[in-house]
Amino acid sequence: MPDRPTRVVLVGFMGSGKTSVGRVLARRLGYLFEDMDRRIEERTGRTIADIFREDGEEAFREMECEEARTLVSLPHRVVAAGGGAFTRAATRALLREGALTVWLRCDLDRILARVPADGSRPLAGNRDIMRALLGEREPSYRMADVVVDASAGAPREVADRIVGLLEGRNRKRTSARR
Ligand code: S3P
Repeated sequence: MPDRPTRVVLVGFMGSGKTSVGRVLARRLGYLFEDMDRRIEERTGRTIADIFREDGEEAFREMECEEARTLVSLPHRVVAAGGGAFTRAATRALLREGALTVWLRCDLDRILARVPADGSRPLAGNRDIMRALLGEREPSYRMADVVVDASAGAPREVADRIVGLLEGRNRKRTSARR
């Protein structure tokens, strides 16, 4: 696969499979996998829930933006972005740099089935809250370069769809050059 983007950034709502798909995709591409939330937890030595509780959401969004700035200099990565990261213009611009951004679109029922109500995701509320948040965020997710249906299929199948898109894009680019 010549000329493929040096980063593939997976965006979308909590529970859409960014981490599980990202791990498989990274293996398929021979890239390293990076999870923005885990990087923030490692860097701060605190959980996401603690950061929200102690510092508030705005401080967490700043941390996401800093993390995105670091990721720009890391080649050959598949990145799972936090569910709110792509909704902030500054963070979104950084995540897009040199990357193919992919929205893993997932329906609300699937999301609700996947997101545990264990407090680890401070913004995961009840069905109505989640529906409203998803509606608010969709216009931002739509700004991703491509959309992949992540409602059905195992992570491996979703990752296969993304590999197929990358191959298709390269084929188009190669034939355009001829
Ligand atoms: C958030 C999603 C979470 C995490 C934080 C806030 C959000 O990431 O960044 O709890 O605003 O949707 P995941 O999408 O990986 O669950």
